[in-house]
Amino acid sequence: MAEIMGVDVGGSGIKAAIVDTDTGEFIKDRKKLDTPRPSKPEAMALVVKELATHFDWHGKIGVGFPTVVKNGICYTAANIHKSWIGANIEGVFGTATGCLVKALNDADAAGMAEMKFGAGKGIDNGVVLVLTLGTGIGSAIFVNGQLLPNLELGHLEMGGKDAEKQASANVKETKKLTWKEWGKRVNDYLKMVENLIYPDLIILGGGVSSRYAKYQQFINIRTRIVPAELMNNAGIIGAALAALE
Ligand code: BGC
Repeated sequence: MAEIMGVDVGGSGIKAAIVDTDTGEFIKDRKKLDTPRPSKPEAMALVVKELATHFDWHGKIGVGFPTVVKNGICYTAANIHKSWIGANIEGVFGTATGCLVKALNDADAAGMAEMKFGAGKGIDNGVVLVLTLGTGIGSAIFVNGQLLPNLELGHLEMGGKDAEKQASANVKETKKLTWKEWGKRVNDYLKMVENLIYPDLIILGGGVSSRYAKYQQFINIRTRIVPAELMNNAGIIGAALAALE
């Protein structure tokens, strides 16, 4: 059994748990701390350090990060402080914790977890698209079980604006949209995406996936669609899986 600390860095919170990578279960209960504002590297590193200390953790750490991540480097910063661009995420958190850190895009992490333990379990044929509706919109695509990393479908243009500024879970909250109003926006977004990619299955994740029953009736697309099963824990579990590799 390999135990790894998984961390999910989000726009509002940073969550972590010690994950049994064979089962996807948490060995110790997850802990959530607020994302510092401004969310600069030094401030975020202190929070990740606090999480490692909380779990008395000295082993490997996997980090799901809400940006494009290539070879540990952050390339974008839609919902975190711009000073992250160009920073080495693995270096920043590795120095703070003294642990070996592997970083990847947060939606890629959530997707990996859903494909291994959740709604995509056992699907190793065809095209599966995982979308996470949270502070932003994250996306991950799996072709015959293989991840195409750093797909950025949250920033497609919808009605002249960034799609995630119109259909993320955050927008529902800040604009106080009803389930119907928001559900229709999500539906428009999904229609656009399915016409670009023609996936065989869409897994809808993010915290709101647990409320799928509330807006399911407004979703009317061609593609088979299911809510994610690991809810808010997918990002943590997937980050741990990535650090295993
Ligand atoms: C970022 C993605 C991220 C998503 C969810 C988007 O704004 O560009 O990289 O996966 O938010 O956090």
